[in-house]
Amino acid sequence: MKGIILAGGNGTRLHPITLGVSKQLLPVYDKPMIYYPLSVLMLAGIRDILVISSPRDLPQYRAVLGDGSSLGISLSYAEQLAPRGLAEAFTIGAGHIGDESVALILGDNIFHGPGFSLLLQEHVPHTDGALLFGYPVRDPERYGVGEADDRGRLVSLEEKPARPRSNRAITGLYFYDNDIVSIARELRPSPRGELEITDVNRHYLARGKAHLVDLGRGFTWLDTGTHDSLLEAGTYIQALERRQGLRIACVEEVALRKGFISPQECYRLGERLGYSGYGRYVMDVAESLRGAGPEERGGSIGAEHGPRRGIGAAVGLKA
Ligand code: DAU
Repeated sequence: MKGIILAGGNGTRLHPITLGVSKQLLPVYDKPMIYYPLSVLMLAGIRDILVISSPRDLPQYRAVLGDGSSLGISLSYAEQLAPRGLAEAFTIGAGHIGDESVALILGDNIFHGPGFSLLLQEHVPHTDGALLFGYPVRDPERYGVGEADDRGRLVSLEEKPARPRSNRAITGLYFYDNDIVSIARELRPSPRGELEITDVNRHYLARGKAHLVDLGRGFTWLDTGTHDSLLEAGTYIQALERRQGLRIACVEEVALRKGFISPQECYRLGERLGYSGYGRYVMDVAESLRGAGPEERGGSIGAEHGPRRGIGAAVGLKA
């Protein structure tokens, strides 16, 4: 399975902060926002990832993330000339997807909760049709909204409905089989002029091949779209990290625990960031796992673990 992170858009709701900087590179407490979706894809075991952003911002993503080799993954980059809609990711990324299935994640979505890592690993190998993730929210009219039957099959879907039929927002993480490329190519812009992800999902719904997994009560899906929600997301991450002594979405640690890099390689990554608490944390994690076998490092990702023992905790997947 291939991965795509969509990190374009004009970030207008965050002006003037985003006048010169891409929204998805803004800090969420101790790391750039894009680390959060990147770590989700890595946790799903996806190692070949395309980052899509605007021509203005793409060079900054390259500077921050590089080619991914230091994390044991492959990162490539593509431009979206204008924010013409989320579904354009699949036509821009068609060459990258090839004949595989694909996971798309929005660069401004933050996921955190119990069992998430296991949930991802469970679904990645069986992507048939579309797999969406639903989350209860107070203000569903701001999102894509879906309803599923008791077998988890999607039965209705609307984009930002004035009168939502349920409180289940569709989050910005989507898994698709390879049909996605031809579906996206046939899509026409919506009345607001965008290639809508919801229209893609409606295609799958019509074929009875759209599935909805609920991210339950104990789960957190954070919004970063406004000044307030961006600050709240940072404060939330700060509170958890300080309480637990574990960093959420520390991509170096994810790479180590997934077995993408060795403890030595991880340590060197931490050294490069050494003057920050984040860098020291990366070195500490690497040190604590030197000599540990793959099983002990992260074999039971998502399982109940204490500090320094399970990535599930460390990336915030087990609170
Ligand atoms: O976050 C989940 C929601 O994302 C879903 O519930 C909705 O169904 C889906 O349409 C989308 O809604 P948003 O209103 O959040 O979409 P927005 O236009 O704000 O775009 C989401 C992110 O994607 C944002 O950070 C900017 C980026 N983006 C957006 C567009 C339209 C791109 O990179 N390229 C684009 O063309």
